[in-house]
Amino acid sequence: MKEFKVTPIRNGTVIDHIQVGMALKVLRIIGVKEDVSSTVSVLMHVPSKKGGWKDIVKIEDRELDPKELDKVALISPDATINIIRDYNVAEKFVVEVPKSVLGIMKCSNPGCITNKSEPVEPEFVVESKKPLTLKCVYCDRITTEISENLI
Ligand SMILES: Nc1ncnc2c1ncn2[C@@H]1O[C@H](COP(=O)(O)OP(=O)(O)OP(=O)(O)O)[C@@H](O)[C@H]1O
Ligand SMILES: [Mg+2]
Ligand SMILES: [Zn+2]
Repeated sequence: MKEFKVTPIRNGTVIDHIQVGMALKVLRIIGVKEDVSSTVSVLMHVPSKKGGWKDIVKIEDRELDPKELDKVALISPDATINIIRDYNVAEKFVVEVPKSVLGIMKCSNPGCITNKSEPVEPEFVVESKKPLTLKCVYCDRITTEISENLI
């Protein structure tokens, strides 16, 4: 007998293995707000089979675009994306931290040219993976507070 904490979805996306505590940030990244028009289930602090705890987000009738996937990877590098079709997992992949982070995060240095009224898109390179740190290509400022700076 299978135990379900939430109703299965027919079509949509399950973001699984989200770092525990990050589900609400994932909702912000994918733009889930009061006016959401598809069913969204959020599971926080669920035991993980790999040990420890995780969060899960399930969204009906939605797939994530590449920018959204990059942002999820930045705050939760081990998250898996499961595309659900007709109640089954049709595709599964682990998000991937992009080598170059372009236009999805702002620089934490107020004096950086990307924070002036110049038409310069913020860009970062990955300085270290664990813990994830990003370096601004314009001012060299290291940003570790990634979720606070996502655009
Ligand atoms: N129809 C569905 N509706 C809602 N959630 C689903 C549905 N099908 C699968 N899931 C969820 O998607 C995730 C991946 O499902 P899967 O069957 O691949 O589990 P798994 O074998 O534990 O995967 P993993 O090894 O990635 O943890 C699980 O969290 C599962 O609960
Ligand atoms: Mg599992
Ligand atoms: Zn900068």
